Amino acid sequence: MKFTKRTNTCGELRLSDTGKSVVLNGWVSQVRDLGGVIFLNIRDRFGITQVTVNSEYKEIYKIANSLGLEYVISASGKVQQRTSVNPNMPTGEIEVLAENIEVLNTSEVTPFVVEEDIKASEELRFKYRYLDLRRKKIAENLVLRSKVYNIVHKYFERENFVEVETPILMKSTPEGARDYLVPSRVHKGKFYALPQSPQTYKQILMVSGIDKYVQICKCFRDEDLRADRQPEFTQIDLEMSFVDERDVFNVVEGVICDIWKNIKGVELKQPFRIMSYDEALAIYGTDKPDLRIKGELKIINITETVRKSEFKIFSDAITAKGIVAGIKLSGQEVTRKIIDGLTNYVKSLKFGGLGYIKYNSDGTVSSPMLKFLNEDIQSGIKNEFSAEAGDVLFILSGEKKKVLNGLGNLRLKLAEQFNLVDETKDELLWVNDFPLFGYDDDSKSVVAEHHAFTMPHEADLTKLADGCKDPAANIELLTSIRANCYDMVCNGSEFGSGSIRIHRGDIQSQVFSVLKLSKVEQEEKFGFLLGAFKYGAPPHGGFALGFDRIIATLCGTKDIRETIAFPKTTSAVGLMDNSPSPVDDKQLKDLGISLNG
Ligand code: AMO
Repeated sequence: MKFTKRTNTCGELRLSDTGKSVVLNGWVSQVRDLGGVIFLNIRDRFGITQVTVNSEYKEIYKIANSLGLEYVISASGKVQQRTSVNPNMPTGEIEVLAENIEVLNTSEVTPFVVEEDIKASEELRFKYRYLDLRRKKIAENLVLRSKVYNIVHKYFERENFVEVETPILMKSTPEGARDYLVPSRVHKGKFYALPQSPQTYKQILMVSGIDKYVQICKCFRDEDLRADRQPEFTQIDLEMSFVDERDVFNVVEGVICDIWKNIKGVELKQPFRIMSYDEALAIYGTDKPDLRIKGELKIINITETVRKSEFKIFSDAITAKGIVAGIKLSGQEVTRKIIDGLTNYVKSLKFGGLGYIKYNSDGTVSSPMLKFLNEDIQSGIKNEFSAEAGDVLFILSGEKKKVLNGLGNLRLKLAEQFNLVDETKDELLWVNDFPLFGYDDDSKSVVAEHHAFTMPHEADLTKLADGCKDPAANIELLTSIRANCYDMVCNGSEFGSGSIRIHRGDIQSQVFSVLKLSKVEQEEKFGFLLGAFKYGAPPHGGFALGFDRIIATLCGTKDIRETIAFPKTTSAVGLMDNSPSPVDDKQLKDLGISLNG
């Protein structure tokens, strides 16, 4: 089992190493037999080095001839300057002239060729993830992830946080998504849940006096998956006692700045910009605005300007208490075909059509709406947008939130279509003052926007006290309550979320009344938390950052699976280990579970 151990990695040797005797251990990534000389590429996670085998060395030439791709070898020899430099390889100026080659293991023919510019399907890559991970690009993502892990640990240690591991097997306390359940063998018919987040535990730790808690933890949520969502993912979870929103912001900004400085060499400017939820929605049509878009493409509300217009589409919207609003695109060539494409796009968002006004360079104006708008209104609109020749206005009307969201989506669509996103920078900001409650059309009830433990604004406490008596009759009042709740947004993606928590029993009861949680349900779901709160809960608040999303941003991808060693597919399947999978009848029997069908 003995083998010659490496002296160097495969990404390390340079011209200055010429003449050195070295040993490289790694995988064969290419074999080129030029007759009389064989060029081997040997790969490890650090890079690739060319090993040259001369037919004069008969023994090793024979071995080299027998090598297949992905064989594991140990190659010894001298570093020498290459006659034909490969500028695409960091080691491209040198080669190792082989003096010995040991085959440490063979490999079957792999299901796909392991190469950076991979041609295999995603399914195949995930099934054979161990081969996929041999690619430098993916391996580097894992290395970066590990570096960020260390930066985070160091930061929180410096800030005097206590790292506490909270249970993975816990009580089911649904937080928004569905729980993953684990049946108990000992207590048949009872289930643990995997944590959607350590929310309840971290709040209880505040009652215990662990005034600064942090954990890099796994969370599990059975929810619809997308590029930025996995069923199991990682959070940097924290909670602090005796703090307000600004204190939480400072700590979270601190760790983000440390990460950006150490990984990207970028000094982010502190404090980060703060935007209220209302402002974000009114100007960008979303609670996670992407501020990298050139020209900003801000939403402008022109309801008042067009209020007296006889254009039926506008007047219908305004009569129904809706709005008319739009965005201005400058300096782009907007053809009829593009407008048709954008119209189809807003139709997919359930709008009847897309209004537009195009200010042509010859001074004329093209718009199917003009004939319905008198001159005053036309110039009013032009003024509102400060529109000039070369500008195009896109206008939507209807229910307020729908229009704002629609324009928010259109803004992103235009940014993508006209290449307006400045990818050279990251734009981080806070969005705060979210509504405490939302209204769920499906269940026709008032629901918590963040979670049931979020503190309302002090100024809105009377609204809560009044509204909680009869929530169904006070929907407008209740949904107007602001919460001490905040998100961190980076480049249009939600990086994290948190809030100042309710630590007073009376306010908590009012919130539960609004959410229609009976005393029995409160006890059943959160009894342990409420119990702890009776014994001196300090004022507290916290935050959780989506670790995978941070890593994805640093790696320049939107797909968090590229940053996770063994990710699941969008249908929550682990293709490599074939999970989820059926279990033995005996296992089911032990658990007291029988399957339907
Ligand atoms: P929230 O549910 O907003 O808050 O989650 C915090 C952050 O976790 C990340 N995240 C995810 N990442 C990948 N896949 C998922 N399925 C997924 N779901 C969430 C996001 C999100 O912003 N307990 C509260 C935090 C608190 O109040 O302190 C919580 O979990 O980046």
